[in-house]
Amino acid sequence: MAQDWRLFQGGDTRPHEVQTWPPAPPWRRFGDDARRRDKERPLPYLISDEDRDVVNMALHLHRPLLVTGRPGTGKSTLAHAIARELMLGEVLHWPVNSRSTLTEGLYSYDAVGRLREASLKRRADETAGTEPDIGDYLRLGALGTALLPAEKPRVLLVDELDKGDVDLPNDLLTVFEEGEFEIPELARLGKGETVHVQYAGSREKVGITSGWVSCSVFPVVVITSNGEREFPPAFLRRCVRLDLKQPDEAQLRQIVTMHLGEEVGARAQELIADFVSRRNERELATDQLLNAVRLRSSGVRVDQDVLDKLFRSLNEVDAQ
Ligand SMILES: Nc1ncnc2c1ncn2[C@@H]1O[C@H](COP(=O)(O)OP(=O)(O)O)[C@@H](O)[C@H]1O
Ligand SMILES: [Mg+2]
Repeated sequence: MAQDWRLFQGGDTRPHEVQTWPPAPPWRRFGDDARRRDKERPLPYLISDEDRDVVNMALHLHRPLLVTGRPGTGKSTLAHAIARELMLGEVLHWPVNSRSTLTEGLYSYDAVGRLREASLKRRADETAGTEPDIGDYLRLGALGTALLPAEKPRVLLVDELDKGDVDLPNDLLTVFEEGEFEIPELARLGKGETVHVQYAGSREKVGITSGWVSCSVFPVVVITSNGEREFPPAFLRRCVRLDLKQPDEAQLRQIVTMHLGEEVGARAQELIADFVSRRNERELATDQLLNAVRLRSSGVRVDQDVLDKLFRSLNEVDAQ
């Protein structure tokens, strides 16, 4: 007999092993599992012809693409879709928060760690002059890594820039215009000095000379915003802007079919219609629909009023 879909029972249930863990939805796979999925059947991305052309303009102009839209409209996923289709490697992800600074995006330097190591070495009475290598304590961030010289552009996702400090867009602007930056800690070592430092998403190191990083091809920069803050005109002027609309019923059906197959898509019509009518009243995101359809289609027998809890509004005001 198949195990109860309720893995967790609560109450005084005795601890028990889960015989088979429920398989992950295609979009919740990680590590090797995700890499295998991307090779065999990559997650599809639905985009209108018009929006697709805006993306292509940004690619041709070597300009950042500023993507706005309600939560769940596929802003972050767009960066991954571009990287996958154009075989540009892993997306360099910079999730912006209120404490994010330009320097954090470029690089981080663990000065304290290096000092500690130096004093340990001295105490261990090692030969003088064996200062710990500065390259072991310096790491390029997502933005810094995207600006490394390379044959093909990397994809950089500056996610939710509107969550950042007011000055961050303008700080970014300078780097995006110049395509280069200096690491003062390395520049101080002298002209022509090469240091090997770590960089984002890799265990390898890259040589940086005279503390200067300069890109050879501008990265594919995707900046997302939920519209919590307006950006200054000087910033907007230098980006190509894309406003993603909420998908309509037919598009939702396509997204469901692309993620879960033709058969599931056909059976989900009612759920999709229900989702759309609720979305007219409150804030709902596409992933909430995908979750509901996935649960339904994986044979989980959950009552409608429990399933409804997946369609809770993203906006607390609506919920009252
Ligand atoms: N146009 C689309 N095509 C395919 N999947 C989509 C699309 N829009 C949203 N999704 C799905 O919805 C989920 C949320 O998308 P996400 O990119 O995280 O939204 P946002 O960044 O705009 O909040 C993802 O799991 C994605 O697979
Ligand atoms: Mg997002």
